[in-house]
Amino acid sequence: MRRVISLIDMDCFYAQVEQRDKPELWGQPVIVVQHSRQGVEGGILAVSYEARPFGVKRGMSVADAKIKCPHLNICHVPIGEYADKADIQKYRYASAEVFRVLNNFDSTIIVEKASVDEAFLDLTAYTNQKLEEIRENGQLEEIVKTSLDQLPSTHLANGEDVKENEHLREEFLSDFIESSRNSTENLLLLIAAITVETIRKRIRDETQFYCSAGVGNNKMMAKLVCARHKPRQQTLIPWRNCREILRTTPIGDVRGFGGKMGNRIQEMLNITLMGEILELDIALLIETFPDQHEYLRAVAEGLDDEPVRPRKESSSIAVSKNFPGKMAIRTTGELKKWVGGLVKELAKRLGTDQAENKRTAENLVYSLLTDDGKPQKTLKMTSYHPDIIFEQVWTAIRALNRSNLAKNEDGPWTPPVLNISLSASRFQPGIPAQTRAITEWLGARKREKEARKNAVYDPNDGRADVIIEEPPAPVIPASKPSTSGPKTILDGSVEFIVLDDSDEDVPAPQPLKKPTDIDYITVDGKKISKQALRHLPPDIRKQYEHRIALEEARALKSKSDAKIGNRKRTGPIKSPVQQAKKPKPLESFFKKKI
Ligand code: CTP
Ligand code: CA
Ligand code: CA
Repeated sequence: MRRVISLIDMDCFYAQVEQRDKPELWGQPVIVVQHSRQGVEGGILAVSYEARPFGVKRGMSVADAKIKCPHLNICHVPIGEYADKADIQKYRYASAEVFRVLNNFDSTIIVEKASVDEAFLDLTAYTNQKLEEIRENGQLEEIVKTSLDQLPSTHLANGEDVKENEHLREEFLSDFIESSRNSTENLLLLIAAITVETIRKRIRDETQFYCSAGVGNNKMMAKLVCARHKPRQQTLIPWRNCREILRTTPIGDVRGFGGKMGNRIQEMLNITLMGEILELDIALLIETFPDQHEYLRAVAEGLDDEPVRPRKESSSIAVSKNFPGKMAIRTTGELKKWVGGLVKELAKRLGTDQAENKRTAENLVYSLLTDDGKPQKTLKMTSYHPDIIFEQVWTAIRALNRSNLAKNEDGPWTPPVLNISLSASRFQPGIPAQTRAITEWLGARKREKEARKNAVYDPNDGRADVIIEEPPAPVIPASKPSTSGPKTILDGSVEFIVLDDSDEDVPAPQPLKKPTDIDYITVDGKKISKQALRHLPPDIRKQYEHRIALEEARALKSKSDAKIGNRKRTGPIKSPVQQAKKPKPLESFFKKKI
């Protein structure tokens, strides 16, 4: 049985987010631009449909865009809190609103977040169930008769549809509707198209955003036809039309063929259209692509069996920054500064993600792009604390300097760095104590609220950023992840950790009173005054912060367990640090002082 799949893609998404923020911009030509540097505007990221007829395009310079469309409205991506890079959090929040609608529409529809502004839906179960109900209730005739009215923004992809007018649109669609009387497969697509009209209307009602959609039998075709009629429209592709559509489709337009693979096919086979693959001599195809010839023919026929995977969050969180041409980093000090900024940005996002999605990254991949290659490495993530992440990353990165000159902080760095990327991945459910980010995210949330309040729209500085809309999963080396080191406490449950104060460094003055049990913390069986801990040197205090939190969580847990009536845990909460080396500095500190 063929599946029923849809791809929903928001129209000029960042531009709509800006239009919603400033309603006077609805209906106006708008571009969204990265922050500028030294008075020169950054690149154009999004173009509203009102600006497109003037020839304004993504990637064009703002100056050129203004010449083409003099009354263009320019919006800037807010500048980030760290690392002087664009902050696309605002668009992520808007995206989350859209996904809330999609995820809540019907539990039998599988939703896969494909990027910040698009989602695949698997409507197979949903449409089959609907069809069953329709048949049981004898409503088939009624559905067929009324469906044209329920498809006000639907087009039928048949090759002629790109030249169509309203009259032809209805004619093509009516023919299809008629054909669905005798075809369950078409009937399911028809029900899907009506459903997607409803979903798009709901997105519009709940978020004010317009979107477009494709409906077909797999991801590849749904995505391909979504782009046929934009904005505010949707396109339906029946199975029997797939070949005809692909016959005239440029290879690079097909999902997965926009990059290297697509270029190779075009160059090596000397073709430009997807359908040409089927016209080639099979022997030539086999000879040129011995491992992929079957797959390529399948694609050209419109076949694709990639499942829609339920995915609400991205599988990795990445920060990245480009230093093109003359801007390449050439000193250790500069590199350290940028790595530090990017780490802070990453830690902030990880903290927010951990709080929102109750998950924690296991891996951290860094990569440095140079003219001489792109060294990258996967590190185990042991903490979400920016200082600890930085230590880990910097220790690994600093060894990559090939300069023979003094390797101090101010020394040169070779080869010059063109891009720094950090990507956290392998998310596991839960919040293990060793990566606890409570203090960080409390702080981050505070900062974020403030940042949203004072969002800057016209910053004057900044290099060209890589805006990672939905970063690709990092390349993970084949080596097995290390099994030594602290173990994650994960049994599907989430460790609940309570901290008694915020991320303030200076303790508030304490009134004098007799110490009670609450003023002590027991670590490894030792009673330690909380007051004493507060006055520890920050590096030592940090080492013990999570142990304190763990002890408190343990106390809290046993209290609440006692209250609830001894709900059993499968095992004791183990401090990961208990299994690891004992931190010597703290002990020697206490030995000296106490
Ligand atoms: N985006 C980006 N950098 C890119 C590609 C996309 O920042 N290289 C952002 C854009 O600002 C955009 C959003 O991601 O608004 C979604 O991208 P896409 O769907 O490709 O384009 P839209 O702007 O939504 O326009 P369309 O209506 O054609 O989908
Ligand atoms: Ca889009
Ligand atoms: Ca998109």
